[in-house]
Amino acid sequence: MKDLSEIALQVSNCSICSLHKSRIKSVPGEGPSTARIMFIGEGPGFHENQQGRPFVGQAGKFLEELLARAGLKREEVFITNVVKCRPPGNRDPQPDELEACADYLNRQIELINPKIIVTLGRFSMAKFFGQVKISQIHGGMKKIDERYVVAMYHPAAALHQPALKNTLLEDFSKLQGFIKKINSENLIKETPMNNYKSTVNDKLDDEEKPTQLSLF
Ligand code: URA
Ligand code: SF4
Repeated sequence: MKDLSEIALQVSNCSICSLHKSRIKSVPGEGPSTARIMFIGEGPGFHENQQGRPFVGQAGKFLEELLARAGLKREEVFITNVVKCRPPGNRDPQPDELEACADYLNRQIELINPKIIVTLGRFSMAKFFGQVKISQIHGGMKKIDERYVVAMYHPAAALHQPALKNTLLEDFSKLQGFIKKINSENLIKETPMNNYKSTVNDKLDDEEKPTQLSLF
Protein backbone atom coordinates (compact mmCIF):
# COMPACT_ATOMS: atom_id res chain seq x y z
CA MET A 1 0.00 0.00 0.00
CA LYS A 2 1.49 3.30 -1.03
CA ASP A 3 1.52 6.05 1.56
CA LEU A 4 1.54 9.83 1.40
CA SER A 5 5.31 10.08 1.61
CA GLU A 6 5.66 7.83 -1.42
CA ILE A 7 3.33 10.09 -3.37
CA ALA A 8 5.37 13.10 -2.21
CA LEU A 9 8.58 11.44 -3.39
CA GLN A 10 7.08 10.67 -6.77
CA VAL A 11 5.83 14.25 -7.08
CA SER A 12 9.28 15.61 -6.25
CA ASN A 13 10.81 13.56 -9.07
CA CYS A 14 7.94 13.95 -11.51
CA SER A 15 8.47 15.16 -15.06
CA ILE A 16 5.20 14.00 -16.60
CA CYS A 17 4.10 17.47 -17.66
CA SER A 18 6.06 20.53 -18.77
CA LEU A 19 5.53 22.34 -15.44
CA HIS A 20 8.49 20.40 -14.08
CA LYS A 21 10.85 22.42 -16.26
CA SER A 22 10.33 25.73 -14.49
CA ARG A 23 9.68 24.56 -10.95
CA ILE A 24 12.13 25.03 -8.11
CA LYS A 25 10.30 22.70 -5.72
CA SER A 26 7.20 20.70 -6.37
CA VAL A 27 4.52 20.99 -3.71
CA PRO A 28 2.84 17.69 -2.92
CA GLY A 29 0.72 19.05 -0.07
CA GLU A 30 0.85 18.61 3.68
CA GLY A 31 -1.16 17.55 6.67
CA PRO A 32 -1.95 14.44 8.69
CA SER A 33 -2.84 11.26 6.84
CA THR A 34 -5.78 11.00 9.25
CA ALA A 35 -7.17 14.45 8.36
CA ARG A 36 -10.96 14.44 8.08
CA ILE A 37 -10.98 17.62 6.01
CA MET A 38 -8.98 18.28 2.88
CA PHE A 39 -8.50 21.64 1.15
CA ILE A 40 -7.63 21.66 -2.54
CA GLY A 41 -6.27 24.80 -4.17
CA GLU A 42 -5.09 25.52 -7.68
CA GLY A 43 -1.31 25.30 -7.82
CA PRO A 44 1.83 26.54 -6.12
CA GLY A 45 2.62 30.25 -6.41
CA PHE A 46 5.94 32.04 -6.03
CA HIS A 47 6.57 31.27 -2.35
CA GLU A 48 5.21 27.74 -2.51
CA ASN A 49 7.60 27.04 -5.39
CA GLN A 50 10.49 28.31 -3.25
CA GLN A 51 9.55 26.39 -0.12
CA GLY A 52 7.85 23.25 -1.41
CA ARG A 53 4.88 23.86 0.90
CA PRO A 54 1.29 24.77 -0.02
CA PHE A 55 -0.32 28.12 0.83
CA VAL A 56 2.65 29.80 2.50
CA GLY A 57 2.32 33.17 0.72
CA GLN A 58 -0.29 35.89 1.12
CA ALA A 59 -3.17 33.64 0.10
CA GLY A 60 -1.95 31.19 2.72
CA LYS A 61 -2.10 33.83 5.45
CA PHE A 62 -5.69 34.54 4.54
CA LEU A 63 -6.45 30.83 4.35
CA GLU A 64 -5.27 30.49 7.96
CA GLU A 65 -7.67 33.26 8.97
CA LEU A 66 -10.44 31.47 7.11
CA LEU A 67 -9.59 28.16 8.77
CA ALA A 68 -9.89 29.86 12.15
CA ARG A 69 -13.37 31.03 11.13
CA ALA A 70 -14.29 27.41 10.59
CA GLY A 71 -12.77 26.46 13.95
CA LEU A 72 -9.90 24.65 12.26
CA LYS A 73 -6.14 24.72 12.66
CA ARG A 74 -3.83 24.36 9.72
CA GLU A 75 -2.08 21.37 11.39
CA GLU A 76 -5.24 19.30 11.53
CA VAL A 77 -6.27 19.53 7.88
CA PHE A 78 -4.65 18.33 4.67
CA ILE A 79 -3.85 21.08 2.18
CA THR A 80 -2.90 20.45 -1.43
CA ASN A 81 -3.48 21.60 -5.01
CA VAL A 82 -4.74 20.24 -8.32
CA VAL A 83 -1.29 20.76 -9.86
CA LYS A 84 1.79 20.18 -7.77
CA CYS A 85 4.24 22.38 -9.69
CA ARG A 86 3.98 26.13 -10.20
CA PRO A 87 2.51 27.33 -13.48
CA PRO A 88 4.97 30.00 -14.72
CA GLY A 89 3.90 33.49 -13.72
CA ASN A 90 0.93 31.97 -11.87
CA ARG A 91 -0.95 31.40 -15.11
CA ASP A 92 -3.92 29.05 -15.12
CA PRO A 93 -3.05 25.36 -15.18
CA GLN A 94 -3.73 23.96 -18.65
CA PRO A 95 -6.03 20.99 -19.29
CA ASP A 96 -3.13 18.66 -20.15
CA GLU A 97 -1.33 19.65 -16.93
CA LEU A 98 -4.45 19.08 -14.83
CA GLU A 99 -4.87 15.69 -16.41
CA ALA A 100 -1.21 14.77 -16.00
CA CYS A 101 -1.27 15.63 -12.31
CA ALA A 102 -4.71 14.24 -11.41
CA ASP A 103 -3.51 10.82 -10.40
CA TYR A 104 -1.45 12.20 -7.49
CA LEU A 105 -4.44 14.06 -6.09
CA ASN A 106 -6.74 11.10 -6.62
CA ARG A 107 -4.35 8.87 -4.69
CA GLN A 108 -4.07 11.42 -1.89
CA ILE A 109 -7.86 11.54 -1.61
CA GLU A 110 -8.05 7.77 -1.63
CA LEU A 111 -5.40 7.38 1.10
CA ILE A 112 -6.62 10.16 3.38
CA ASN A 113 -10.27 9.40 2.71
CA PRO A 114 -11.46 12.75 4.07
CA LYS A 115 -15.07 13.16 5.12
CA ILE A 116 -15.14 16.73 3.81
CA ILE A 117 -13.36 18.19 0.79
CA VAL A 118 -13.20 21.95 0.40
CA THR A 119 -12.29 23.20 -3.06
CA LEU A 120 -10.56 26.58 -3.32
CA GLY A 121 -11.10 28.24 -6.66
CA ARG A 122 -12.57 27.09 -9.93
CA PHE A 123 -10.06 24.43 -11.00
CA SER A 124 -10.54 22.20 -7.98
CA MET A 125 -14.27 23.01 -8.05
CA ALA A 126 -14.53 21.74 -11.64
CA LYS A 127 -13.07 18.41 -10.57
CA PHE A 128 -16.10 17.73 -8.37
CA PHE A 129 -18.87 19.95 -9.70
CA GLY A 130 -18.16 20.09 -13.45
CA GLN A 131 -18.85 23.27 -15.35
CA VAL A 132 -20.79 25.31 -12.82
CA LYS A 133 -20.48 28.92 -11.78
CA ILE A 134 -18.72 29.46 -8.49
CA SER A 135 -20.95 32.49 -7.85
CA GLN A 136 -23.90 30.13 -7.78
CA ILE A 137 -22.59 27.34 -5.58
CA HIS A 138 -19.95 28.81 -3.25
CA GLY A 139 -20.40 27.90 0.38
CA GLY A 140 -22.90 25.14 -0.33
CA MET A 141 -22.30 21.56 0.66
CA LYS A 142 -22.96 18.67 -1.68
CA LYS A 143 -22.78 14.99 -0.87
CA ILE A 144 -20.71 13.06 -3.39
CA ASP A 145 -20.54 9.34 -2.63
CA GLU A 146 -19.45 9.10 1.01
CA ARG A 147 -18.05 12.60 1.21
CA TYR A 148 -19.25 16.14 1.48
CA VAL A 149 -17.75 18.66 -0.90
CA VAL A 150 -17.89 22.43 -0.46
CA ALA A 151 -16.78 24.89 -3.14
CA MET A 152 -15.19 28.11 -1.92
CA TYR A 153 -13.79 31.09 -3.75
CA HIS A 154 -10.01 31.02 -3.90
CA PRO A 155 -8.50 32.98 -0.99
CA ALA A 156 -6.27 34.85 -3.47
CA ALA A 157 -9.38 36.13 -5.26
CA ALA A 158 -10.22 38.16 -2.17
CA LEU A 159 -6.82 39.84 -2.35
CA HIS A 160 -7.80 41.27 -5.74
CA GLN A 161 -11.54 41.70 -5.14
CA PRO A 162 -12.02 42.96 -1.60
CA ALA A 163 -15.77 42.30 -1.72
CA LEU A 164 -15.05 38.58 -1.80
CA LYS A 165 -13.28 38.73 1.55
CA ASN A 166 -16.53 38.93 3.48
CA THR A 167 -18.12 36.29 1.28
CA LEU A 168 -15.25 33.94 2.08
CA LEU A 169 -15.39 34.73 5.80
CA GLU A 170 -19.13 34.04 5.82
CA ASP A 171 -18.76 30.82 3.83
CA PHE A 172 -16.11 29.55 6.24
CA SER A 173 -18.31 30.42 9.23
CA LYS A 174 -20.99 28.37 7.55
CA LEU A 175 -18.46 25.56 7.08
CA GLN A 176 -18.01 25.50 10.85
CA GLY A 177 -21.75 24.94 11.12
CA PHE A 178 -21.60 22.03 8.66
CA ILE A 179 -18.68 20.49 10.55
CA LYS A 180 -20.50 20.77 13.88
CA LYS A 181 -23.60 19.24 12.41
CA ILE A 182 -21.69 16.34 10.90
CA ASN A 183 -19.69 15.87 14.12
CA SER A 184 -22.78 15.87 16.26
CA GLU A 185 -24.19 13.12 14.14
CA ASN A 186 -21.01 11.18 14.82
CA LEU A 187 -20.14 11.16 11.18
CA ILE A 188 -16.58 12.15 11.87
CA LYS A 189 -15.03 9.59 14.16
CA GLU A 190 -11.63 8.20 14.84
CA THR A 191 -12.90 4.75 13.95
CA PRO A 192 -11.91 2.91 10.80
CA MET A 193 -14.01 4.07 7.90
CA ASN A 194 -15.21 0.59 7.13
CA ASN A 195 -16.91 0.34 10.48
CA TYR A 196 -19.24 3.20 9.99
CA LYS A 197 -19.60 3.81 6.29
CA SER A 198 -22.95 2.13 6.16
CA THR A 199 -24.15 3.91 9.28
CA VAL A 200 -23.26 7.19 7.67
CA ASN A 201 -25.29 6.40 4.62
CA ASP A 202 -28.26 5.04 6.56
CA LYS A 203 -28.36 8.07 8.79
CA LEU A 204 -28.18 10.46 5.92
CA ASP A 205 -30.76 8.65 3.89
CA ASP A 206 -33.19 8.59 6.78
CA GLU A 207 -32.91 11.89 8.45
CA GLU A 208 -30.41 14.13 6.80
CA LYS A 209 -31.17 14.64 3.19
CA PRO A 210 -28.21 16.41 1.59
CA THR A 211 -30.56 19.10 0.34
CA GLN A 212 -31.08 20.17 3.95
CA LEU A 213 -27.37 20.65 4.34
CA SER A 214 -26.78 22.43 1.11
CA LEU A 215 -27.83 25.03 -1.33
CA PHE A 216 -28.43 22.43 -4.01
N1 URA B 1 -2.58 29.27 -4.31
C1 URA B 1 -2.91 27.97 -4.50
O1 URA B 1 -3.87 27.65 -5.18
N2 URA B 1 -2.19 27.06 -3.92
C2 URA B 1 -1.15 27.34 -3.15
O2 URA B 1 -0.55 26.41 -2.64
C3 URA B 1 -0.83 28.69 -2.94
C4 URA B 1 -1.54 29.64 -3.55
FE1 SF4 C 1 4.29 16.06 -12.46
FE2 SF4 C 1 2.13 17.32 -11.56
FE3 SF4 C 1 4.49 18.55 -11.55
FE4 SF4 C 1 3.26 18.07 -13.85
S1 SF4 C 1 2.53 19.42 -12.20
S2 SF4 C 1 5.44 17.71 -13.41
S3 SF4 C 1 2.27 16.09 -13.43
S4 SF4 C 1 3.92 16.74 -10.33
